[in-house]
Amino acid sequence: MCIAAMLYMKIDILTIFPSMFNGPLTESLIGRALRSGILEIETVDIRSFSKDKHLKVDDKPFGGGPGMVMKVGPLLDAITSVGVRRKNKSYKNFHSKPYVIYMSPQGKKLDTAMVKELSKFKHLVILCGHYEGVDERIINYVDCEVSIGDYVLTGGEIPAMVLIDSVARMLPGVVKKEKSVKNDSFYNGMLDYPHYTRPAIFKRYSVPNVLLSGNHKEIQKWREEQSAKRTRERRPDLIKDVLE
Ligand code: ADE
Repeated sequence: MCIAAMLYMKIDILTIFPSMFNGPLTESLIGRALRSGILEIETVDIRSFSKDKHLKVDDKPFGGGPGMVMKVGPLLDAITSVGVRRKNKSYKNFHSKPYVIYMSPQGKKLDTAMVKELSKFKHLVILCGHYEGVDERIINYVDCEVSIGDYVLTGGEIPAMVLIDSVARMLPGVVKKEKSVKNDSFYNGMLDYPHYTRPAIFKRYSVPNVLLSGNHKEIQKWREEQSAKRTRERRPDLIKDVLE
């Protein structure tokens, strides 16, 4: 008997490169979540909303300058095509309303707190920009601008994949052992502890003795110490955040 899994989240990706998403989101845990029905992802080609005979969706910037700007019309048509209605008040609660995200280096930086918050939504709509950016007026139809870090990529597609992967891991059933999500780096504001598997001795490197002791209390204590040590050494800024 096949028991259908509960759909936890629908994600619509608005892009001019839909085929970029084929590999990364159809393999591994995300691929399994898609096949089991926990997650649904669709891509929408922004070019299909072009009014131009050459399917152009960009134009020269007003005021001059280098590069091209994505036109507001096709972007808004793409957003509304996936069911986003600005003034629709019929949603049961905040998290059931489609939440529109624009991937942009000018956005709020993605972190675990944001990932956890985004994983509560039932429907995410992710807009991927290109060229020099999008016509700023589209921001009136966007709920949140998100950056994946202080560097600029050629488009919003790879950042969208990063966001989707991190959010999907939080959905129940995507990562089989929920405990492993809770042990992740950053989940509790700390870096993860080191992991080892067989063989116990590899060349001149052996696994810490405590992990072979079978003493679960000691193992837990060692892991917490390692986690704290790594965080202190590598990311003291995180310790400050935990204490604040
Ligand atoms: N598009 C280009 N660079 C980006 C970044 N760093 N984060 C999100 N979207 C982007």
